[in-house]
Amino acid sequence: MATSDIEVSTYLDVAKKSEESPAGAQLNPPDDHAASRETVVILDFGSQYSQLIARRVREARVYCELVPCDASPQRIAGLNPRGFILSGGPASVYEPDAPQIPAFVFESGLPILGICYGMQLLAYQLGGRVARSEKREYGHAVLYKNDSASPIFAGMPASIPVWMSHGDQISEMPPGFSALAYTNNSPVAAMGNDLGIIGLQFHPEVAHTPQGKTILHNFLYEVCGCKGTWTAGNFVTESVDRIQRQVGDGKVICALSGGVDSAVAATLIHRAVEDQLTCIFVNNGLLRRDEVERTMNQFHKNMQVKFVLVDAADRFLARLAGVIDPEEKRRRIGGEFIRVFEDEAQKLGRIDFLAQGTLYPDVIESTSRETKAAAKIKTHHNVGGLPENMRMSLVEPLRYLFKDEVREVGLALGLPEDMVFRQPFPGPGLAIRIIGEVTRDRLETLRAADWIVVNEIKKAKLYHELWQSFAILTPLRSVGVMGDGRTYANVVAVRAVTSEDAMTADWARLPYDVLARISSRIVNEVPGVNRVVYDISSKPPSTIEWE
Ligand code: XMP
Repeated sequence: MATSDIEVSTYLDVAKKSEESPAGAQLNPPDDHAASRETVVILDFGSQYSQLIARRVREARVYCELVPCDASPQRIAGLNPRGFILSGGPASVYEPDAPQIPAFVFESGLPILGICYGMQLLAYQLGGRVARSEKREYGHAVLYKNDSASPIFAGMPASIPVWMSHGDQISEMPPGFSALAYTNNSPVAAMGNDLGIIGLQFHPEVAHTPQGKTILHNFLYEVCGCKGTWTAGNFVTESVDRIQRQVGDGKVICALSGGVDSAVAATLIHRAVEDQLTCIFVNNGLLRRDEVERTMNQFHKNMQVKFVLVDAADRFLARLAGVIDPEEKRRRIGGEFIRVFEDEAQKLGRIDFLAQGTLYPDVIESTSRETKAAAKIKTHHNVGGLPENMRMSLVEPLRYLFKDEVREVGLALGLPEDMVFRQPFPGPGLAIRIIGEVTRDRLETLRAADWIVVNEIKKAKLYHELWQSFAILTPLRSVGVMGDGRTYANVVAVRAVTSEDAMTADWARLPYDVLARISSRIVNEVPGVNRVVYDISSKPPSTIEWE
């Protein structure tokens, strides 16, 4: 899954399964705003870049939804689209089961942008021909414009670098189309007609097509006529209104985690229904230094949100006693969280809604056309279930947002920057950064070391460039010398990674002087540690967390 921030509430994901609504119905909640909102629908034909197209469109301030290419006409009509984008995909148009563009897309008369496979489908279904190219074109290519009047290339020089990845190409355009651009390998690298139907053989959504953002912008603004109304401010207004209609005078609970997603979700809901919302913050004893106080200050003291702080550290630590297996740790923490949450929720009397900070990548993943069987690497979610008598409807105000949009909304809501731009932190907390048994003493050691890592990274102004930076307490002890004496003490590892989405990550090339300061401070200031090592593994083959 696209990893969200630490979202304790994702432990409750399983509650979704007990929702009474039919599968997929949640994707289109009754939405009075759909009629006035500018929406572009992206039909997903299975490209690895489909989500990237959606992110680029949103960055251009146009709302879009990524839907499977076989989504029903009703579902798409409900979105009231201004145009369609057809993603690339792995298939070849002449394969027997190759997915096709549904007829209603053409019947709508709306602008269509087909990318790669999307373009080939346009050609094929509108009466042109597609053929295997002699040479598979993969990587950089130079695109030469044919028709300077085409709005899709407005403001662009005569030739631009583009990114190609295709085996098939257009050998004959459909009637009414003209070639807008070519490359050395593809005589028709872009084509269009007078009805606003455009095909691009290259990928404008990837960073390797530097002018790609302008090309997508041109499609949205010049061809679809969008005005760019998708802003954080507008989202807040619409969302508050939607939450008020959904919740009515019902009661809502929200599990806060200290992470940005649940913080933004809770703030939005609080703005909408004020003291109908109660936030529950479970201190599982596995949090970083100052995390409890910081979250309490933000929500309870500054915003006067009804706030329940549950100090459950003893319960969690008791459950973790003697456990060293990483998956077992995760299972026990997840299970305990559900029990603590349930105990607290029951004390509050009747509750109608459970708020969650679910993000759009999770939604896309769980509703994608083909759920690919993937090996389970780590148990992130669905570690338990809410009992029958705790059935609540879900309020998920961030269900349609990408992470960077959540941050923008957080800022628009006035949340402090240090909360909005916090690095992700895993739900099971420090327990999966202590290799071996989790004890109070070892937690204290790790907290102290972690504090120094984060502090030094912030001082070096690197915090926001890194996806995550933290310390790990290894089960190793090594010999050292301090003063004149021998020591035999703990080894702490430091991990700092860069990443776009946590699916892949690279170890950060931290400056040596920053590493030197981190190491010397940890050894000098953290009792029981005499050695610091830096983790230089990337993901894959390693993962970001050690457990
Ligand atoms: P890995 O270690 O799988 O982590 O490379 C990828 C990202 O996910 C975070 N992570 C979690 N987040 N619950 C969460 O909410 C979890 O159980 C969990 N485990 C890992 C991790 O910090 C990294 O950002």
